[in-house]
Parts: sequence; structure tokens; C-alpha cells
Amino acid sequence: MNEILNKLPALLLPWYRQNKRVLPWRENPTPYRVWVSEIMLQQTRVEAVKAYYLRFMQALPTVEDLAACEEEKLLKLWEGLGYYSRVRNLQKAAKQIVWEYGGEFPRDKKMLQNLAGVGSYTAGAIASIAFGQPTAAVDGNVLRVVSRLTENATEIGDISYCKRLEVELSQIYPKTGKACSEFTQSLFELGALVCKPQNPDCAHCPLSGICQAYKRGSQALFPVMKAKKPRRRESVYVFLIQTPEGFCIRRREQGVLRGMNEFPSAVSNGESAEEVLHGWGMYAFNEVARKKYKHIFTHIEWDITCVWVRAESAPFDAYALDELQAGISLPTAFKQCLGILYDQVEIDF
Ligand code: ADE
Repeated sequence: MNEILNKLPALLLPWYRQNKRVLPWRENPTPYRVWVSEIMLQQTRVEAVKAYYLRFMQALPTVEDLAACEEEKLLKLWEGLGYYSRVRNLQKAAKQIVWEYGGEFPRDKKMLQNLAGVGSYTAGAIASIAFGQPTAAVDGNVLRVVSRLTENATEIGDISYCKRLEVELSQIYPKTGKACSEFTQSLFELGALVCKPQNPDCAHCPLSGICQAYKRGSQALFPVMKAKKPRRRESVYVFLIQTPEGFCIRRREQGVLRGMNEFPSAVSNGESAEEVLHGWGMYAFNEVARKKYKHIFTHIEWDITCVWVRAESAPFDAYALDELQAGISLPTAFKQCLGILYDQVEIDF
């Protein structure tokens, strides 16, 4: 594999310098800025991350600001990105950096991996992009590029393949710091712009001359993906309970999105919405509307029935709508239920 990989820096670096996208985290790539961008990019597309990233950096420009940020403000900045444990880890690690390392990121990859939520990939990305070290960061883009390049049929998701690739790529890194930073990003960039999952643009690929899959026309067969387990499906009631004080919110105690705010919800095992409300001690309410939504998590699919009811009182905290939208973080699975309000324009609330 190394004879092919050896050729990568000379082919990829000039291509990257000509074709790289202008992205906010590429300006002033401090360890803090690179780290936050990589955590965001693990879960969402580049285009969607840009606005989140700029807002986050404006609100929390330093690792000290992140360490000191109030939880609700932090969750609000992350609202819609999903995987909320990542932002909690981000803050945990920020506190480690401030308290244990005096606010300076450790430079060593192994020490970076001691930070909460920082695995081999993120540590490799920070060490190479921010510190200019020859450490690979193997993500899905890189696995796809190299699997096609070498016609390697190992399943994506095989950790030992990923580890071996990390070692082999690290051996062929360029010699200067700036080039190390660019090389890591050139692999991401090629995967994103040219060696795409579907319809790779081989006509414009700087690696077509050495790509085994291109030579044999087998691009569509690589990378070999592991068969996915089907998602578990759940029927869930989400209640928009409107009281004179506003809409009810509570904190989730268990299951997916544990610790996050929600409109009171319940997994349904055949009971009616009314029965669920009775179970919460609510008997006096009027149903205004109901609407069905779907929400897909990584391993679970929710068939949501959103039920909007009005009641004089309810056993939950309530917030006015503008307060709820401005200051309360709500995961997308729940936030989308606000759509039921906007469909009922004739109703004054
Ligand atoms: N995907 C993962 N990390 C990235 C980065 N730094 N730039 C562009 N795409 C990425």
C-alpha cells in the first residue's frame, strides 16, 4: 500500500492549494478553533456547520469562555446540531485545558486524547492542522479515498483497518508544519469535492493516475460498507401543553436525549394521548390540534404524534413562546412540533 500512498503528498498538495474551499475554521487555525470545527463536522455537513461555527466562535472566542459558559447558553448554541453529549464533552475538555493545562492545549497526540470526547481522529486533526505535526486524521472521507485508491475491500468500520491506515499515512506525511496541516485537509477536501460517495468526479481527480479503482472502473464497489442494522421504531406522543403561563417544558430523565429539555413526551405502547395526560394527573384540558411528524436518530426512528392541548394548569414549568424560542434549548425532535402552531394561523396565542 505504501508505494501508492507515498505519492499522495506530491499529488494532493498542489491540488489542495488550488481547489480548497474558503471555510471559517481555515482562517487562523488555532487548536481551539480547529477542535471546535472538527467536533461540529463529525455530525453535520460542512455547509450546515459554517453558520453554527461562526455563531459559536463569536459567543465563545476562547477556551476559557467555553469552560465558563452556562449550560443552557451552550446547549442553545448547539441547538439543531444533535449529539448533545458532544457539546457536553467539549465543555468538560475545555475545563480540563483551563484547569490542568493553564489554558494551553497539549501538543502531544496522546495527551490530546486524554481530553473528554477527543479520540484518535480529533487528536490527529488538531495535532496536524493546528500544530503542523505529521499525524493522520482518518475519517470517512479519508477511508473512502484510500479504499478506492488501493481497491481495499476491508469493511469501513473495521477499527484495525482505520488504525493501520493512520500509521501508514502518518509515515508519508510531508516534512514542514504548514504542509502537514494542508495534507490532512487535502484528504478531507478530495473526499468532499471529488472522491464523493456517489458519482465521484474522476475526470478532475489529481489521483486518477494512481487510483486502482479508477483503472478498473470499480469505484462504485469501494468502500465496502458494513450492512446497517435497521433502526428501532417507536411511537411517541409529544404534548404542547399550553397554560396561561405558556408552553410546558421539562428535562428528559432517560432514553435518547437524556438531560435535554423537551415538551413532555411519552413512548406510546397503545395508550391514548388522553390516558398519558391522565397519568400525569391532568384531567381538565382541551385538545386544539394534533399532527404527525417523523424524527430520525442514529439508531432510533420516532413516529411522533404531536398533541396540542390547552389547560388551566399542568405539573410542569411553562415558558412564554418568545422566551422559549430565545432562551431555552430544544432538540430538533421537539422543536419541529412548534410547526403545529404555525399551521393554525386562525388561532390566537
Ligand atoms: N471534514 C472533517 N474535517 C474537515 C475540515 N477540517 N474541513 C473540511 N471538511 C472536513
